[in-house]
Amino acid sequence: MSGYVGAQHEFHDANFVRGWANRFVPTRDRLKLFDMISEQISQPSLPNAHVVELGIGPGYMARHLLERNPVISYEGLDFSEVFFEIAKETIGDLMHRVTLTKADLMNQAWPKKLSKTPGAIISTWALHDLGSQQAVADVYVRCYETLPKGGVLANGDFIKPEGTTWQYEPGRFEIGLHFELLRNAGFSHPISLAHLEPNIEDPKASENYACIFAVR
Ligand SMILES: C[S@@+](CC[C@H](N)C(=O)[O-])C[C@H]1O[C@@H](n2cnc3c(N)ncnc32)[C@H](O)[C@@H]1O
Repeated sequence: MSGYVGAQHEFHDANFVRGWANRFVPTRDRLKLFDMISEQISQPSLPNAHVVELGIGPGYMARHLLERNPVISYEGLDFSEVFFEIAKETIGDLMHRVTLTKADLMNQAWPKKLSKTPGAIISTWALHDLGSQQAVADVYVRCYETLPKGGVLANGDFIKPEGTTWQYEPGRFEIGLHFELLRNAGFSHPISLAHLEPNIEDPKASENYACIFAVR
């Protein structure tokens, strides 16, 4: 069996965004991904406790991480005002530890918008939406430039699994290629901590995501 894996989004449309947030309340596997990222950002070796999330969306991971890591400050970057409104509702009483920063990841000046230097840059289910390997490669380079030595990058995003006969949208590509792009950006030992909701035979658009991790 074969087919196409991808999705169309309207990230500036209030109805679409509200529907997306309701449809994708975190599953058990997605919560596992959040926990893996939580463990990485709580390492004492991190240069500082400021965490930047690229594509914060409805704020599900933000809330999860803020509850479990009382010392971190959090910055959610996104280009969608409507997602910011939902993120504020999700994060609720913890918003005093959060800065929301409006920026477009396709504009290479996005790091200049950050409120301070992060010790960790994290993201889930977002970078594939930039639509190409080159766009993801550019984000990796900007992250390498932005992080101080010892800073970490965790990208829990959709991948094209090895051995598939399905076609994937251009932003979803093999883990090995992510590693190559990370090494080209300057990260020396990128790894994948997990392949979640794996499905080679009959994949849905919300399956097959990895937890890709690298240290500056
Ligand atoms: C599929 S949603 C995932 C949201 C969230 N990270 C999660 O896992 O629930 C993708 C997010 O990336 C944001 N995004 C997509 N393209 C972007 C861009 N060029 N610049 C900034 N944010 C972008 C969208 O607005 C949206 O919040």
